Amino acid sequence: MQRESRKVSRRRFLKEATGAVGAASALTILKPRWVRGAEKEIGVVVLLGPPGAGKSEQSRRLTARHSIPIISTGDLLRDQVRRGTQLGLQADTYMKAGQLVPDSLMNPILEDRLSQPDCARGFILDGYPRTLAQAESLDVLLKRQGLPPHIILLEVPTERLFKLLTGRRVCPRCNRSYNIYFQPPQKENLCDADGTTLVQRPDDKEEVIRRRLDTYQKETQPAIEYYARQGRLVRVNGNQPPEKVAAELEVKIASP
Ligand code: AP5
Repeated sequence: MQRESRKVSRRRFLKEATGAVGAASALTILKPRWVRGAEKEIGVVVLLGPPGAGKSEQSRRLTARHSIPIISTGDLLRDQVRRGTQLGLQADTYMKAGQLVPDSLMNPILEDRLSQPDCARGFILDGYPRTLAQAESLDVLLKRQGLPPHIILLEVPTERLFKLLTGRRVCPRCNRSYNIYFQPPQKENLCDADGTTLVQRPDDKEEVIRRRLDTYQKETQPAIEYYARQGRLVRVNGNQPPEKVAAELEVKIASP
């Protein structure tokens, strides 16, 4: 009885302490690693998929569960743009046009980020590789670090991608993402976490989306075939509610 009430008050404490985070995931986040035990180290997870397939959404769920950082190349580039760096100014032109940023700009930022101490145990790679050349250089990099990756492809039909992208709204302050059709905020156009007015990404306009999808077919498809040929590609159905995608992903990552 006493034990039961301790459990209830611990749950209430976690809920109050973590605000928007659900009690179950809060338990996962706040418990020290030795208590979590059952969750084995997952190393590196590479999330592939067309624009809008849910790579960021699933990255957030994976990081909450496994406490490894998300390395999103899109976010790294957008951060450079926001800070107005020379690199950001150059990258912005490509991003606004729905094209890939050249490797000469992309690779040094990524290598620098992956050399940070928080990546030593593993990380989630969202948005890289996007070309065959990037896939090959990632293989070299990860071999050097001794971290064999899980290569995951989120599959979503093209007609649904349009709705996922045109409906996306993001919080410019905390980067949380919503969708006016599938995951609307509680109050129209305001972030649930901090009340900031949501914005649409400049590359989420219909014309640019079309170009991003074309670029994916032409440039990223060869990287996917490279992994498939080697029998390393794990396919996950991204055309289901986010929690179901996450559940399928966990099962596939856990199986040898
Ligand atoms: P980046 O930011 O990586 O964009 P992207 O790959 O086009 O992917 P998105 O962020 O648009 O989509 P997502 O798959 O993360 O989907 P999300 O979870 O948000 O790259 C931007 C640009 O940077 C590129 O175009 C390029 O120029 C440059 N760049 C980046 N990496 C590069 C590289 N390696 N080399 C060269 N250039 C590079 O979900 C989408 C929406 O759907 C959201 O609204 C979400 O709430 C909702 N949603 C997600 N899952 C579900 C679900 N299961 N059910 C219902 N709704 C869902």
